[in-house]
Amino acid sequence: MAHLVFVEITALGVQSIAHAKRLGHEVTLLRSPLYDFVTPPAERAQAEQLADRTLHSDDLQDAGRLLGLLHEHGIGPGDVDAVLSTLSLCVLAAARLAERLGARGTPYEAVAAARDKGRCREILRERGVPSLGFAVVTTLPEALEAAAGIGYPVVIKPVSGVGKAVTSIVETPDGLRAHFAAAAEELRSMQPGLAAELDERYIVEELAVGELYSVEVAADGERFTPLVAVGRKMGRDNPVLELGCTVPSGLPAAEEAELGGYAARVCEVLGLDLGIFHVEVMRTAKGFRLVEANPRISGGSLPDSVRMATDHNVFEILVDLFLGAPAPAHPLPWRRAASHTFLAAARDAVVPGDLPADWFEEFRPRLHSGWSRAEPGARLRAMNGNFDTFGMIRVVGDDADRAAEEVAAVRRDIEKRLGFALTAVAEARGDG
Ligand SMILES: Nc1ncnc2c1ncn2[C@@H]1O[C@H](COP(=O)(O)OP(=O)(O)OP(=O)(O)O)[C@@H](O)[C@H]1O
Ligand SMILES: [Mg+2]
Repeated sequence: MAHLVFVEITALGVQSIAHAKRLGHEVTLLRSPLYDFVTPPAERAQAEQLADRTLHSDDLQDAGRLLGLLHEHGIGPGDVDAVLSTLSLCVLAAARLAERLGARGTPYEAVAAARDKGRCREILRERGVPSLGFAVVTTLPEALEAAAGIGYPVVIKPVSGVGKAVTSIVETPDGLRAHFAAAAEELRSMQPGLAAELDERYIVEELAVGELYSVEVAADGERFTPLVAVGRKMGRDNPVLELGCTVPSGLPAAEEAELGGYAARVCEVLGLDLGIFHVEVMRTAKGFRLVEANPRISGGSLPDSVRMATDHNVFEILVDLFLGAPAPAHPLPWRRAASHTFLAAARDAVVPGDLPADWFEEFRPRLHSGWSRAEPGARLRAMNGNFDTFGMIRVVGDDADRAAEEVAAVRRDIEKRLGFALTAVAEARGDG
């Protein structure tokens, strides 16, 4: 029996704790109310119920405190086999704790390098992996100078950003001025658990133009395997917004292999050699270019779509890797297609009060799965990032394009039923 420590948990990530318990392992869950906003109460409760113990701390980022907390419960170095996290905001803390306990974990240096979007691109440059032009800045004048050097349009985003916080595509110097002006306000209204991640550094990057894909790369210390590649749905009016995925990717086999190889190489040069990593890549006219290497497994609804399409559970593979199992030798084969889309309001909106409480159920027969928390009368915030979605709809079928078209049709009908504009998906692979 092994002892696994999870630093926080995500809604779908509960499946990894469930898997560890099914295998008969001991699980300690470390939690903080700072991250309550990410995981709904039901899943949090489920995770706590499955774990052998849940220890609460108001600062999961302080490894010394976590060591003290574990010590209070009789757990010290030598007692823990692996430390992991499925939550982006806690992967660095998990890596640090693993190192301090001498347990298996994703190497701290690698997680820190990947999470620092500037350092990440520097490493790619040093190692000759194709990347995008970039500069790290802290002030508007520096950003203006960097953008003039790179050439507009550029993307500006926090060096350690998550969830699309304070991220803009800007076409002109005025766009950069607007970004800095709006950033202060956005930082003020942000969840403290998220704001704590950010400092004054921004990265200004060349804009990659093309279709967005993501790859889950599994690593066991030696082998780097691209497990699955999927097509990402971007916002029509704001391509920074992420609106869902379609699996399989729809790329011809040779290109999908090239994409997988590129993503695996990114993880290898960063030293991300234990775990599953979510690598976002744009297919540009010049070839595949990294958008972001997330040193953790995919969040959102993608892991479930992958499970429905491949009959493999990436959370189980994740736990197995941390227990010392070899990474799968090949990408997971597809059995069917799955396409999901997030529901979010394009502008601040109110759900009509006269809708039936179960309005979403009308759409269920056309879906494989989905959810909505838009109750009649609820106020919805305009979508600004990943945390502003109010629902998800999914279609599973034989053909990826058909599944994407069907889910797009349901989304349009939901929009009509709600009577306000939903964040529109960019036209790609029949989705609109
Ligand atoms: N250089 C770029 N070129 C084109 N698009 C970009 C670029 N950088 C970011 N984007 C767009 O902005 C989105 C957010 O960027 P990024 O993934 O780096 O931020 P994030 O906040 O870490 O996102 P998350 O944590 O949700 O994955 C990307 O998914 C992509 O659509
Ligand atoms: Mg991203």
